[in-house]
Amino acid sequence: MTTSEIRSKFLEFFKEKDHQIIPSAPVVPEHDPTVLFTTAGMHPLVPYLLGTPHPQGKRLADAQKCVRTTDIEEVGDATHLTFFEMLGNWSLGDYFKEDSIAWSWEFLTDSRWLGIDPQKLYVTVYEGDGVVPKDEESIALWQEQFAKVEINAKEGERILALGKNDNWWEQGGVATGPAGPDTEIFYYIGNEQNPKFDTENNKFVEIWNNVFMAYQRQEDGSYTELKNKNVDTGMGLERASFTLQGLHSVYDTDMLNQIKSAVAHYAHEVREPTFIATQPDTTERAERIITDHTRTVTFMAADGVVPSNKDQGYVMRRLARRAIREALVLGIQHDLFARIVPRVIALYEDEYPELGTNQIQIMEVLLREENAFRQTLVKGLKEFEKLLGDKENLSGHTAFTLYDTYGFPKELSLEEAKRINLPVSNLFEAEFEQQLDAQRQRSRTATSGQFKGGLADDSEIATRYHTATHLMYKALRNVLGDHVMQRGSNITAERMRFDFSHHEKMTPEQIEQVEDMVNAQITKDLPVSFTEMQKDKAFEAGALGAFGEKYPDIVKVYTVGDPEGDYYSKEICGGPHVSKTSEIGTFTIIKEESSSAGVRRIKATIK
Ligand code: SER
Repeated sequence: MTTSEIRSKFLEFFKEKDHQIIPSAPVVPEHDPTVLFTTAGMHPLVPYLLGTPHPQGKRLADAQKCVRTTDIEEVGDATHLTFFEMLGNWSLGDYFKEDSIAWSWEFLTDSRWLGIDPQKLYVTVYEGDGVVPKDEESIALWQEQFAKVEINAKEGERILALGKNDNWWEQGGVATGPAGPDTEIFYYIGNEQNPKFDTENNKFVEIWNNVFMAYQRQEDGSYTELKNKNVDTGMGLERASFTLQGLHSVYDTDMLNQIKSAVAHYAHEVREPTFIATQPDTTERAERIITDHTRTVTFMAADGVVPSNKDQGYVMRRLARRAIREALVLGIQHDLFARIVPRVIALYEDEYPELGTNQIQIMEVLLREENAFRQTLVKGLKEFEKLLGDKENLSGHTAFTLYDTYGFPKELSLEEAKRINLPVSNLFEAEFEQQLDAQRQRSRTATSGQFKGGLADDSEIATRYHTATHLMYKALRNVLGDHVMQRGSNITAERMRFDFSHHEKMTPEQIEQVEDMVNAQITKDLPVSFTEMQKDKAFEAGALGAFGEKYPDIVKVYTVGDPEGDYYSKEICGGPHVSKTSEIGTFTIIKEESSSAGVRRIKATIK
């Protein structure tokens, strides 16, 4: 079964169970300044899991684009990826354990769907603690399913009850958030007749996680019950695909393998005849890293991220450079992205049309980064000669300096050393690792800084910025004209950033006019309200949207002013917003600059 088949069967199955299929949110959370990327399928749904009604109803399912880079150094092995698709189904206070487990069973084992042999399935549940009791209910529900195919699913054998590390899920990296016990489904990929179920044994692969999300973690680490008992499930598509296809690595699955083959072919085509290929395992590793990283940066660029030295842009740059650097290991010295990115787009654009819509922008951003970095690489090579000129050997410390300062790859330092017959320090790997560890400590400290300040404060400020964004969007159209369309927006606790289509620099007068107009609406203390309506009706009513954005059939429309009479702005948006404009504060534009061809960028603050 191909990856696309698994994806579409999943969505089709839950559609039959009365779920609304919602589009994937962007990889950059639009209104959550506390995390850089969408790291789980449930992340864009947090407000709804916490109780806000979702315009599409109480049963939802989707394939969500996710980015996780904590294990970036592991990429290249059989399973790690920095981008993945997460299939998920949700109950927002609707069905709970009984249907959730019955439907997981049906989807996995029924021949109409995945048709997995039930003998290969094993499950874990939560063993309980002082607050939440042991999940006896899920044990009984699973036993009922297994009994249908005459499997006696004994606890301690086919079903394990495990502790918090294994069967309790909560959102990472945030101060408070939805949480709950989960039941995880494992698929046995080994050959033994009666294997002993052990989650530490990598022959048992976790393929699906059903979280019974009925709690909220508080800042002091305690848990309170949520108003709604929710279900949040997650099935990593690539992992499910490689497990069910009986392969040894995610990179051998149909989609990723096509990217990997394109990389290998391109290397054969362009490398110099004198190029000496490295060991097969090094080649395989390089191909995997290039495959993963190129796919990730393509999806990032499609959602408007550009390489830079901070936040999302920093992560993107690091991935892009690692790919370019690894390409040298294969002998690819130019045009990696020009060749591979269109393949990624072609493979995924049916499911994620933003790739096709933004193809020009994606190519522009990535080709520019590749060209700039190739010059850095050349500089790095020169620096290598300088640094190593009078040294007796290549130490891990020197190689790390080159890596850290010039992005010069460790492998390349080793190859260069060989070329000039320079011995390599016996402690090379240890020295390099030691420096890398020190750097990791530094970046961990930097990342945790992102979460300082507490979610409550930050999200209140973010909400104010969010409403200010609507006011400014409208003001820009009033001042510059109706060609102005939102091309991207990003809010932190310190500022808002807004990209929009416009072909020339704004004059100081225009900037002042926009500022005045926004502040005038704030002074008027206009009410902010929303209604839900059909997407087409919303556009007919004159509601603004963002350029290239995919909207579900039913949307929320936020109005600033009187929705039935004299209003200032109407915009399709998920919220949240302040209830009156006076809550926003004073609005100031601090910068107006070019973002990319035909797109301007404004940074503004509120005080
Ligand atoms: N939140 C759970 C996970 O990410 C299930 O979606 O695994």
